[in-house]
Amino acid sequence: MAANKLPAREPICILEMKELNRVHRRMPAADPLCEDERKAEVRYHLHRAADILPTQFGAVRCINLELGSRYPMIGNLIGLYRRVRDALRRRTLDDEFVRWLGYANAGMLNPGNAWSMDYAIRHLPSGHPVVEIGSFAGLSANVICHLLRKHGRRNALFTCDNWDVTGQQKAGHIDGSVLTFPEYADYVRASFLRSVEFFSPGNRPYTIESSSAEFFAKWGHGESVTDIFGRTARLGGSISFCYVDGIHSCDAVRREFESVDACLDTGGFILFDDSSDSSPFGLSRLMREIRGHAGYELVHQNPNCLFRKR
Ligand SMILES: C[S@@+](CC[C@H](N)C(=O)[O-])C[C@H]1O[C@@H](n2cnc3c(N)ncnc32)[C@H](O)[C@@H]1O
Repeated sequence: MAANKLPAREPICILEMKELNRVHRRMPAADPLCEDERKAEVRYHLHRAADILPTQFGAVRCINLELGSRYPMIGNLIGLYRRVRDALRRRTLDDEFVRWLGYANAGMLNPGNAWSMDYAIRHLPSGHPVVEIGSFAGLSANVICHLLRKHGRRNALFTCDNWDVTGQQKAGHIDGSVLTFPEYADYVRASFLRSVEFFSPGNRPYTIESSSAEFFAKWGHGESVTDIFGRTARLGGSISFCYVDGIHSCDAVRREFESVDACLDTGGFILFDDSSDSSPFGLSRLMREIRGHAGYELVHQNPNCLFRKR
């Protein structure tokens, strides 16, 4: 029986089927970064669908659907709807400095994130540090430093990046180029130093060259470290706001959330890049879990998720 002939009296079932199809389309199995999340989402919807489906369809029918992805047209329409909704609900920051910064400083900052950063910084609950995971060439770090200055906040910014820009420690040549990925990463790191020194005088971030896991281990131990500008800083204590934009694998982001949660102030914020409904990174399940977490409230999706700790 064709999937579109499922009885109309089973709307929740059909929703779950569409969800399954969406999971397949959004997270191809070939993408190792998304594999865990894809499997988890498939399991979740499979179980829900199996619970709801009338027996004549049953679990076998679910598995067929899982393998078959029977609703390509509906999946496309839902994807399109999500992208349009994300675009429509995005608010952008009207800030001349951020505009000029964006012309000169390479980076991957979603314009909606600058608006969310501005919101978080205006509402910071304390003078405790702000943390950024994933700095690349310094665009988001410079935006955060600017907004701290603009709103008269003296909170220090700590950033961490291991400049593994592919997230997979690729060492070969970039396709169609004589340049290798490590050479590219060195260039990006040098751009970070130059851009931050130029655009954030007065409140330059403390930048620790490490993965987020190493950074939070050091933070937890209150270690004294030397940043990439050669300054000594002591890590540790509470955090008032964290911007999560490092490696985008679901497992890594979950661990980062847990590390931040352990030291986030009550009333503190956490903003996840690429967490919008239409993002291909597969963070939606984690975002749903945090939405359901009694300790957090969703401030808004712009289109990425900004949470406040209760
Ligand atoms: C999307 S980019 C960050 C973009 C940046 N926030 C901006 O505004 O342009 C992701 C960055 O995360 C870094 N990264 C990769 N793996 C990481 C890890 N395990 N911990 C911290 N950063 C990581 C990469 O080197 C890269 O610079």
